[in-house]
Amino acid sequence: MPKLKLIFTAVALLCSVSLGAAELTLEERIAKGYDLAVDRNAGNCFSCHMAEGAEQPGNSGPALIMMQLRYPDRNQLKAQIADPRVRNPNTNMPPYGAHYILTDQELEWMVDFVHSL
Ligand code: HEC
Repeated sequence: MPKLKLIFTAVALLCSVSLGAAELTLEERIAKGYDLAVDRNAGNCFSCHMAEGAEQPGNSGPALIMMQLRYPDRNQLKAQIADPRVRNPNTNMPPYGAHYILTDQELEWMVDFVHSL
């Protein structure tokens, strides 16, 4: 039954992928967040935010510095990125979670990265 074998292989692959993600070190998660932040088709965060390591950043948003100090609660930081309209209905920052620009996993990596700034 080759079809069944294919399904088993797919399930096994999916499991190893999700398990692999859970095993990432903090450094690897920060790197994933950074990659998403610079990706113009994903975060594109530096088009509006100045941050360490950002090339030619924009300044329509506040500089992302000392983020762990300013957002000790990572859920609060995640909420800001997932849907900034909650805090400011007129914001020009995209609601990355609410509009499915980033997945929940990607939001977590983004928080790890922003917290490292
Ligand atoms: C189109 C411009 C724009 C983009 C793109 C953008 N932001 Fe923002 N961001 C803003 C503005 C403007 C604010 C100021 C608060 C508000 O208006 O909501 C803000 C606020 C924030 C804050 C709160 C800062 C503080 O000082 O409290 C965080 C954190 C943040 N953005 C992270 C991100 C991340 C991470 C990304 C990429 C995934 C991103 N932003 C992409 C415009 C942007």
